[in-house]
Amino acid sequence: MNLLLPRGHDLHVHFRSYDSKLFPNVIGYTARRFSSALVMPNTSPNPILTGADADAYRHAILKVADDQGITGFTPLMTIQITESTTPKTIADAHTSGVVAGKVYPLGVTTNSGNGLTIPSLMRKHDVWQAMADVGMVLCLHGERPFSANEFCLQAEVSFLPTLQWLSKTFCLLKIVMEHVTTAEAVEEVLRLPNVYATITAHHLRLTLNDVIGGNLDPHAFCKPVAKTPEDRNALLLAATCGSDKIFFGSDSAPHTIESKHLSGCAGIFSAPHALECLAEVFEDEGKLDNLPKFLTAGAPVYNLPASTETITLERKEQEVPKVLHQVRPYRAGETLRWKVV
Ligand code: NCD
Ligand code: ZN
Repeated sequence: MNLLLPRGHDLHVHFRSYDSKLFPNVIGYTARRFSSALVMPNTSPNPILTGADADAYRHAILKVADDQGITGFTPLMTIQITESTTPKTIADAHTSGVVAGKVYPLGVTTNSGNGLTIPSLMRKHDVWQAMADVGMVLCLHGERPFSANEFCLQAEVSFLPTLQWLSKTFCLLKIVMEHVTTAEAVEEVLRLPNVYATITAHHLRLTLNDVIGGNLDPHAFCKPVAKTPEDRNALLLAATCGSDKIFFGSDSAPHTIESKHLSGCAGIFSAPHALECLAEVFEDEGKLDNLPKFLTAGAPVYNLPASTETITLERKEQEVPKVLHQVRPYRAGETLRWKVV
């Protein structure tokens, strides 16, 4: 039995810095399976802050894809919005083909030490307006900074008033609440007219139990951290119901086993088997028919052409390797029911 899926869009992925060892090794997993991917700008030590940075990063990504014989893949570039971002930064980035600006609230996740506090985010009126003017998407890591005395499990829900303010004040700005993890966030996204959300493959399966319920599992740890079974069920419903507002963003975020163990870095490397994992989840929900929609619903938000190519999955068991490129991939050592042909 085969499953034919569109070669759709992974609208949130981390390829890492182009001088890192991971960079040439992780791109192919995404580029072979998706026609485009939104590439996150939180590279270290040099984040992607301008159109020129994004241009150089795009060329490096396309060179890796080309060297590996991959065609038909478009990296969609982002810049990080920091204190120094101005309307001119936005206009220049737009000219360079950057499609989105990403906000990391200060200190909430990997490489976000240059992120914005909530008050500074609320002061950047001219930047949000400039983005709305050129049709650039605002991507939010929607967690309130811990520096604001935030409790980590509450950080996403505490960010929702800021999301509401942005949505209402800049009603022509397209806003994507990235990797939502709570029932409350899903409800807000569905309610606010100019707001969309991505959901990862891992948040459709994991709960906090998988992270800290038994022995601590650093490889199940990501930001925002997986929440309660009720939250997970709300995400499942939102992802599989065929919504126009909710689409796939893997948030595949590789960290070496060593850095996971030594520094407890947040991030799950899901790119190698993301499609197979999604097929399992949608099948278990009896919603396989809606998986193509989840893989393509983001296209209008980013003005992407309709997917014409397909990816075939066959019903064949495969074991996920325990280690890939010194990283433990999502579901390492487990047997999956589907396999990309
Ligand atoms: C991401 C990373 O490692 O860059 N980590 C994560 O846990 N998701 C950053 C992010 O998207 O939060
Ligand atoms: Zn991410």
